Amino acid sequence: MPKGKIAVVTGASRGIGRSISLALSAAGATIVAMDMDQAATDAIVAEIKEAGGNALAVVGNVTLTADADNMIDAAMKEFGRVDILVNNAGITRDGIFLRMKDEDWDAVLTVNLKGAFLCSRAASKVMAKQRYGRIINIASIVGLMGNAGQANYCASKAGLIGLTKSNARELAKRNVTVNAVAPGFIATAMTDALPEKVKADLMAQIPLERLGSAEDIANAVLFLAAEASGYVTGQVLSVNGGMYM
Ligand code: NAI
Repeated sequence: MPKGKIAVVTGASRGIGRSISLALSAAGATIVAMDMDQAATDAIVAEIKEAGGNALAVVGNVTLTADADNMIDAAMKEFGRVDILVNNAGITRDGIFLRMKDEDWDAVLTVNLKGAFLCSRAASKVMAKQRYGRIINIASIVGLMGNAGQANYCASKAGLIGLTKSNARELAKRNVTVNAVAPGFIATAMTDALPEKVKADLMAQIPLERLGSAEDIANAVLFLAAEASGYVTGQVLSVNGGMYM
């Protein structure tokens, strides 16, 4: 359990990031909740505090170096350590590959991959000095198996898995582990937007016969964030109901 640890979560205000923040807090961690919108970020911090936890809101954009650095600086100023970083912020801009717009490619790669790079670089400077850290990247099942209509998103998540493995190798000697969680299809705003027919087709491919919940993903993050998981690094933990094995 990450009791007493300082955990930074990007995209913390809703969906999977919100559940990860609540679960880490319930397990005893102090949360630095980062997201783009002040009101939404304040709301998750209030929710954590109401549940008896401790949290700090940081507004920022993971694609900006200054914001990524500021997020870690704010955590250091307030709490003096950063033990856990969860790179959760992510977007989709789906479309048929032949017609994919340059800006949709760039937007997805910049948030999902460059954002994780910037936040990991800022956090790992601190973690290397501390000689302790847990970095957890939220990838996706489609980064492993591909998905029609999501070339940009799949490339970003496959890239994130490559980043995870490289950083695991580079940071291991400083006792910093780096792992990824690859969610299957999870019931959130992102999947709510899918047409009913697509949802029904998806369900037929999931051995456990349900979409995942944000809590399913949070539980996997809790495992990787724990001190007891210190011999696990460079791994991709699939949480997908058996959809891809
Ligand atoms: P969501 O859209 O509900 O939440 C994403 C959060 O990230 C939002 O609060 C948003 O404001 C924040 N965000 C977006 N761009 C940002 C930026 N540039 N800087 C800071 N924050 C930013 O998404 P959801 O479904 O909770 O997804 C969370 C993560 O899980 C994403 O990385 C997504 O790719 C991944 N994922 C989701 C799956 C699903 O089925 N929902 C499946 C597999 C992976």
